[in-house]
Amino acid sequence: MQILTSAAGVCETSAWDSDEPVPRTELLRQVQGAAGILCLLSDKIDAEVLDAAGPNLKVISTLSVGFDHLALDEIKKRGIRVGYTPDVLTDATAELTVALLLATARRLPEGVEEAKNGGWSTWKPLWLCGYGLSGSTVGIIGLGRIGLAIAHRLMPFGVKRLLYTGRSSKPHATEVNGEYVPMDTLLAESDFIVLSCSLTPETQGLCDKAFFSKMKNTAVFVNTSRGAVVNQEDLYEALKSGQIAAAGLDVTTPEPLPTNHPLFTLKNCVVLPHIGSATYSTRGIMSSLAARNLLAGLQGADMPSELKL
Ligand code: GLV
Ligand code: GLV
Repeated sequence: MQILTSAAGVCETSAWDSDEPVPRTELLRQVQGAAGILCLLSDKIDAEVLDAAGPNLKVISTLSVGFDHLALDEIKKRGIRVGYTPDVLTDATAELTVALLLATARRLPEGVEEAKNGGWSTWKPLWLCGYGLSGSTVGIIGLGRIGLAIAHRLMPFGVKRLLYTGRSSKPHATEVNGEYVPMDTLLAESDFIVLSCSLTPETQGLCDKAFFSKMKNTAVFVNTSRGAVVNQEDLYEALKSGQIAAAGLDVTTPEPLPTNHPLFTLKNCVVLPHIGSATYSTRGIMSSLAARNLLAGLQGADMPSELKL
């Protein structure tokens, strides 16, 4: 722990001075008496942490748009405010989603391996063939800010139909000619299925055996939201048996995914280490927003991005 000088004259801060997650015991010790906590999505802020902090705690600021790592019921009960970082990471995350979708559908990691390791013997008509976006139907589960930004980027590839589902239809869907359809329709008709919903009790384990069994055998599944929306055993079976064509995952359970995990044995599964928002500029802007949320919360002022509890 490093004690830093006062931030903008508002507070004294101590910071975990490493890219590795702060050990739980250290977190529990250091939050004692804190008025604010700036955390990452890998820090679980639950009743134990809130109790350790004590009654001084006024604000939690997370360096993420997702907030499933925060025990919101407990936080609300204690009258603590929450800041997060929506909007500023929408473009970077949508971009990464498109990159992952194309990499998975066109089998880029396999191609790179083959080129490097001598598998490239000659040009072969059906070798490393995949699936293209042109003329396709794309289904987006969760057409929020990020889902919409993904749709905007996919349409210019010649996507024919854009389907979406979620809790409710979205007026902004007209920007991308999005058709609000029941989940079963989306699953049956989409060539690409992109998961862009938040992790909630309703979406936990949403993508299970029944879900994958309703998809086309030629469909590609992409998840850049949260790993726990997917039942990974069922996904593994669906990929292994050819029930679905391929999957691209930027998020898994757990994170990191152990290197001996069965998903890593499948050529039709592309796993990234949760890098959706990882551009230099986006992470810089997220950091400054998280700091401003924290300071505003400490001062009882309006936060630039407060999560409504
Ligand atoms: C990334 O997953 C985030 O929630 O910001
Ligand atoms: C929420 O995850 C969003 O779409 O910004």
